[in-house]
Amino acid sequence: MVQPQMKKVPARTTCDQLFAACRSRPTFATRLEGPLEFSTGDSAGNLNGRTPESEELRGNVGPGYSALSSEDWLPLLRKVRVMKPRPSARAYFRHYLRAVSRSLLRLEPTNLRWRRVRRSITKSYLDQANRRANQWVKEKTELDNFYYNLEENNRADLSELVAAVTSESSKTIANYSSEIRNDAALRAQIAGSFANNPSRADSIAGYGRREGWYLFVRARKPRVVVETGVHDGVGACVILAALERNEEEGFGGRYFGTDINPRAGWLIPERHKKIATILYGDSIESLQDFDEKIDLFINDSDHSSEYESREYEVVQPKLGPDSVILGDNSHTSNSLRVFSQESGRAFIFWREKPEDHWYPGAGIGVSLSSLPAK
Ligand SMILES: C[S@@+](CC[C@H](N)C(=O)[O-])C[C@H]1O[C@@H](n2cnc3c(N)ncnc32)[C@H](O)[C@@H]1O
Repeated sequence: MVQPQMKKVPARTTCDQLFAACRSRPTFATRLEGPLEFSTGDSAGNLNGRTPESEELRGNVGPGYSALSSEDWLPLLRKVRVMKPRPSARAYFRHYLRAVSRSLLRLEPTNLRWRRVRRSITKSYLDQANRRANQWVKEKTELDNFYYNLEENNRADLSELVAAVTSESSKTIANYSSEIRNDAALRAQIAGSFANNPSRADSIAGYGRREGWYLFVRARKPRVVVETGVHDGVGACVILAALERNEEEGFGGRYFGTDINPRAGWLIPERHKKIATILYGDSIESLQDFDEKIDLFINDSDHSSEYESREYEVVQPKLGPDSVILGDNSHTSNSLRVFSQESGRAFIFWREKPEDHWYPGAGIGVSLSSLPAK
């Protein structure tokens, strides 16, 4: 049984015209396989014994048309099919081309086929990042220095790296890691300050790679920490939390930050002001005037390679004997690695993996006066 399928027929089409159309367009007959609606000229819409061939087809508009039953139009279509002409040379050629291209696809060279497979693999990764990026674009107001948490495995890798280069046990470093992660007061303080700042209202108190900075401060108990580039002060708060705990354990330390922005460090709570100093102005100039031995130096200000290299050169004579340098930009710049090679220091890089974020992550370049002997 042919399923009824409504087709519009141009108004005032006669059967002869219809047949003529079928002859000139071979596919037309196939497309007509459904009940034709056409006027019989009878307002009741009956054929009244007349054959479709004698009728004027008007399409399904206006009063006085009726849908022909299949008994009416099937003979007509049968006739149409019989009258279907041989396909033109052009149609044959098109059919031939299609067949050839289908066989070519089957014969697709292996490298092209694998290229297609590889494209679908990359797509699955990029689609996920794109989804996250689109969501971030819609929801966030951040323009730089994005805040997020670390992926759990990435955090564990970081702890192992810090344990390896500080000679602390994995367990001790893992404890430090849970310390910062579970510091509800610090998180609430940062989240509360963000919530009250319209330009950060949707930022989360996620420390990302700064958790690594915390681990180094806890493990090395530095007396002087310098961070160039304070920005809001999330890194400063994390470092100060570590210094506070060191102090409780009898290892006092001070924090110095540099920033060209006079509003930088607005997150730092008042209670830390006795151990925290921000040197406002150009970082290189502040470092040149700095006259204390630096145990832990974190580079996070101007991230051009030249500027980073100059910061390292300026601090080199001020570094303590077991100093550690952390480069925040070592995922894109080789300045800390080159500095380490030229000054006989060991260099290691850890790659950051943000959790549920489009940003691929930065990392921590670690430069040490020497690697601990095992
Ligand atoms: C990536 S942000 C620092 C992020 C911060 N360390 C944190 O933990 O969130 C870079 C900061 O460096 C500062 N900066 C850029 N160029 C500087 C320069 N020449 N001297 C000092 N600070 C600079 C910027 O004002 C900005 O606040």
